[in-house]
Amino acid sequence: MRIRVLGSGAGGGFPQWNCNCPNCDGLRKGTINAKARTQSSIAISGDNTNWVLFNASPDILTQFRGFPELQPARAIRDTAVRSVVLMDAQIDHTTGLLMLREGKTPLEIYCTDMAYEDLTTGNPLLKILEHYCGVNWHQIPTQANNSFEIVGVEDLEFTAVPLRSKAPPYSPHRHDPHEGDNIGMRVIDTRSGKNLFYAPGLGEIEPHVRPFLEEADCLLVDGTCWTNDEMAAQGIANKMSLDMGHLPQSGPGGMMEVLRPLKASRKILIHINNTNPILREDSEERRQLEAEKIEVSYDGMDITL
Ligand code: MLT
Ligand code: MN
Ligand code: ZN
Repeated sequence: MRIRVLGSGAGGGFPQWNCNCPNCDGLRKGTINAKARTQSSIAISGDNTNWVLFNASPDILTQFRGFPELQPARAIRDTAVRSVVLMDAQIDHTTGLLMLREGKTPLEIYCTDMAYEDLTTGNPLLKILEHYCGVNWHQIPTQANNSFEIVGVEDLEFTAVPLRSKAPPYSPHRHDPHEGDNIGMRVIDTRSGKNLFYAPGLGEIEPHVRPFLEEADCLLVDGTCWTNDEMAAQGIANKMSLDMGHLPQSGPGGMMEVLRPLKASRKILIHINNTNPILREDSEERRQLEAEKIEVSYDGMDITL
């Protein structure tokens, strides 16, 4: 399978429009060694022709332009994107759907009951799309080991894993977490037997999640913050990384410790917040990741598994 990182940044992207943290300011002024990043999304293909989009970022049109394989130009209106899978109903993972409204056929959208509820109530994107291309919703099962297939995609098998996290701020059940508010996904290539585990929002390593981490050949996991109080320490917001459902990389129980014993040949961070020091390619924090063989994804990263 091929995995293309369309956007490696967290909500807001990098640099964020209103942010003058040392990273955002330094990137604009060209005084730091770092790359700009759009908001979190990947595309996966089993045959290099048909692609599944994981999350639809507000930056989707820029991301498509940066990856011409998504436009094979076989007809007057065309796309290689066969379906869209949503890991949650957060703004940075869903608002790009509105940019796909010119589609000739209903969008094939895969998400959980909970994300569907949010996307038809608090943030009714899927209802709005009914007035344009329409939506063909497929429910993602979250019961243990319930794998599913995706329309138009051969040779790949998908299994969702419910992750404890929060529904989006706009959700009617923001303060009452439900199974399915947030998921991780195992994608198995049935020809090679290799598998990816993708979880851009991973706040807690619950026991049922461990086997997915342990058995993965490639991990593409939450890289939002380096420390729990990163945003507060920079005077940006009082939000803690863990309260937002994002496990920081450093410190006891942090992502570096979680990844250390795992056998995966690729351990890659995604959904990186603009405040995170790992964005600076010559930082001490980046050196620590390199010592652990942990990679930092970037827009345009291409992985063959
Ligand atoms: C998150 O990942 O926690 C959210 O995308 C934050 C946001 O919506 O800004
Ligand atoms: Mn996010
Ligand atoms: Zn910033």
